Amino acid sequence: MTKSATRVIGKSGIEIFPLAFGGNVFGWTADEQRSHELLDRFTEGGGNLIDTADSYSEWADDEHVGGESETIIGSWLRGRDRSSVVIASKVAKYSKRPGLSPANVAAAADDSLQRLGTDYIDLYYAHEEDPNVPIEQTAQAFDDLVKAGKIRAIGVSNFSAEATEAWLKASRDNGWAEPVAIQPHYNLVHRNDYEEHLAPLAARENLAVLPYWSLASGFLTGKYREPVEQGDSPRAGAASKYAVPAGLAIIDQLDEIAKAHQTSIATAALAWLLAKPQVVAPNASASRVDQVAGLLAVGDVELTADEVAELDKVSTWAH
Ligand SMILES: NC(=O)c1ccc[n+]([C@@H]2O[C@H](COP(=O)([O-])OP(=O)(O)OC[C@H]3O[C@@H](n4cnc5c(N)ncnc54)[C@H](OP(=O)(O)O)[C@@H]3O)[C@@H](O)[C@H]2O)c1
Repeated sequence: MTKSATRVIGKSGIEIFPLAFGGNVFGWTADEQRSHELLDRFTEGGGNLIDTADSYSEWADDEHVGGESETIIGSWLRGRDRSSVVIASKVAKYSKRPGLSPANVAAAADDSLQRLGTDYIDLYYAHEEDPNVPIEQTAQAFDDLVKAGKIRAIGVSNFSAEATEAWLKASRDNGWAEPVAIQPHYNLVHRNDYEEHLAPLAARENLAVLPYWSLASGFLTGKYREPVEQGDSPRAGAASKYAVPAGLAIIDQLDEIAKAHQTSIATAALAWLLAKPQVVAPNASASRVDQVAGLLAVGDVELTADEVAELDKVSTWAH
């Protein structure tokens, strides 16, 4: 079954292909040339939303200073039609630009624009809450960026429902631009946090949901059958920890559903997310060009209500 391959980021009206290409691999597990090839393959296949953050990939090792991902996207963008892609970036978690104070938000946005080589970011997220800054100050700082034309829409990531509501209220009380999207940790092996707390809010407020770790760092591709401490990928330890009987039962169910749709386990896992209310685009990355097709294929796969229910049932252990 084919479905329309266009979704909208909530009230922003920004149209996207229903898969956000995860940029934390750029400059980390994919060097610049590989990253450009990945971006070429993604956009040639119909994708347009690229997700990054100022901090990517500061965590990799001592040689990484952060900003690598945005810089690589910037070099790829040069000479291309800027309006053909939708760029999402984030502020708050970069050690050189930490937190959500107004001064930091303004400076971090300018730094990101410079690295990306563009004069606007389509969707700008607060990457995590900052308990030291009143939410009104942060909300106003993001509104200032909208008014300056430096960002088109606002999102929040890793925010509680309460903090998201407080931002919405501050925006409405003051007539400021309000968040239209959330980026939570949500997938078939990590459901409860999002479904219990954020999903009701997203439905009530018509927030677009763009989950991250949509493939549980690779576990939901079916390639890990047992926990390993180290593997070919730096993601192997985190991904394979789910390869316990309850997690493998999800893989088996995905495999059956994937076969019925003549698709891959990874695509079926992404299609389950996309079947959930308010989810407009799962964030997922690829480190090899041959992995990109499995991500893009979600634009052509729609699970039946029965298939979604079967996956819901087999994954109820998840937390
Ligand atoms: N807001 C936040 O706090 C936050 C946190 C984390 C991530 N994110 C965003 O979400 C994006 C996605 O997260 P993620 O990249 O960490 O993890 P992910 O999307 O859950 O896993 C992607 C990884 O799975 C493997 N993979 C993909 N397709 C495959 C296939 N067909 N066959 C086999 N393996 C495949 C690749 O890793 P290998 O190299 O191991 O093969 C790939 O890098 C990030 O890039 C980032 O943009 C946001």
